[in-house]
Amino acid sequence: MYEVEHLQLCDAERVKRIEVMLEGLQLDNDTLERIRQVFRSEMDLALKMQPSSLQMENTYIPELPDGTESGTYLAMDLGGTNLRMLLLTLEQGQAVNEIVQHYPLPEHLRIGDGDALFDYLAQCVDSFAREQQLDEEHVYSMGFTFSFPMRQSSLDSGILVTWTKSFNCPSVVGQDAVKLLRKFLKKHQRHNVEIVAILNDTTGTLMHGAIMDRNTRIGIVLGTGSNGCYMERSSRVLHWEQQRHGERHVIVDVEWGAFGDNGVLDFIKTDYDRQVDEGSLLKNSFTFEKYISGKYLGELCRCILARLHAANLFLPHLASEDFPQPWTFGSDNVSVIEQGTLDDSWTSVETIVREKFNASHYDTDDLKIIRHVCGLISKRAAQLVALNTSVLLNGMAPEEGQNITIAIDGSVYKHHTRLRQWIIEYTALWTRDKTTKYLLATDGSGKGAAVVAAIAEKLRRRNS
Ligand code: GLC
Repeated sequence: MYEVEHLQLCDAERVKRIEVMLEGLQLDNDTLERIRQVFRSEMDLALKMQPSSLQMENTYIPELPDGTESGTYLAMDLGGTNLRMLLLTLEQGQAVNEIVQHYPLPEHLRIGDGDALFDYLAQCVDSFAREQQLDEEHVYSMGFTFSFPMRQSSLDSGILVTWTKSFNCPSVVGQDAVKLLRKFLKKHQRHNVEIVAILNDTTGTLMHGAIMDRNTRIGIVLGTGSNGCYMERSSRVLHWEQQRHGERHVIVDVEWGAFGDNGVLDFIKTDYDRQVDEGSLLKNSFTFEKYISGKYLGELCRCILARLHAANLFLPHLASEDFPQPWTFGSDNVSVIEQGTLDDSWTSVETIVREKFNASHYDTDDLKIIRHVCGLISKRAAQLVALNTSVLLNGMAPEEGQNITIAIDGSVYKHHTRLRQWIIEYTALWTRDKTTKYLLATDGSGKGAAVVAAIAEKLRRRNS
């Protein structure tokens, strides 16, 4: 197994002191086993509708595309730093034409008045419909990807539980995002767009993956935020507010970002994690996401280095005021430094120390320390993601077979090569009786929404 190399510096005493400070970032086998058990038990509790930090939300999507989906569908994708509208034409379950338009989503819309945000979303639908010259006589089904935790009572309802990532419009919490969007579509007189499904980005990723590979059963996003969903036996899902129609399976949205919010994971929390949480937009929530996702890995790295700096163990000549300010050290730096480790090149880490830390006096030992820290936090993140994924895989119904594909998307997975390799290796290690494959499902959150819209239409026809 590929490991983070030991820290070797000129001064053995310095190594010892640093190692003590970084000890909590390493997960030994017993700890990993404990996390595994806690995750499984939190999943089971939530499925039985008992208190848990996981949501295990019923998405009301009981099937994957089967190759019969045809038609032109709309999709709106909200959840990252920009907003996307898509027009996707499917023929026999394959996307044959695709038009994507990006819209800016400035901070004053992401943080503030909920009505302003939804009014803007409706405006974007409207202007996209005009630009694409949608047929006014035809009603287009739209899938709405809303990548936040929500309570669903049907495929086309989603009550926001809490905002995450870089969003916070308090008035929307507790409201149905579909109803809100419908209200503003009406205001803008956009009558030929019908929202038939609301879904999470992981569900979109799973759907998009399923079009590319029929063995896909899990969808994961590892980007600004992180989460996973999977095909569960419907008999295990108690929360079901609609009439059942003999569904055998259903996609469950785990919402693993919040894993540990009730304290069950406190045994792995370090002071650095506490500091990241303290400075975050939504404190005391999304505990697990703060260990693994792109919004936090850079800040976590900065917090650790800041402590080492304060203890005179890292860049000792750098004045405190020159040290990067909170939330200014992006996770992309961690990916770049880790790439340098893989390539055995010091150039990138040196550039980062000079440019981001404004350091003119540094030595190889400083570079080794920053590399070491990036290695430790990346390996921990990879282990945690792989661990959750392996729990999902090991709990799959036997009829799903031994070959399972995991559709995955997100900036961290795409750009952090070393973390990606670790995820793949650890997943294989922890699911020895299965053959697993990670499939990059780029932009699945948008494309998958159009596929879900097609499935929603199919279900409506069948169940009406
Ligand atoms: C956050 C959201 C979740 C989403 C994930 C990835 O964790 O709560 O719904 O899937 O980010 O975007």
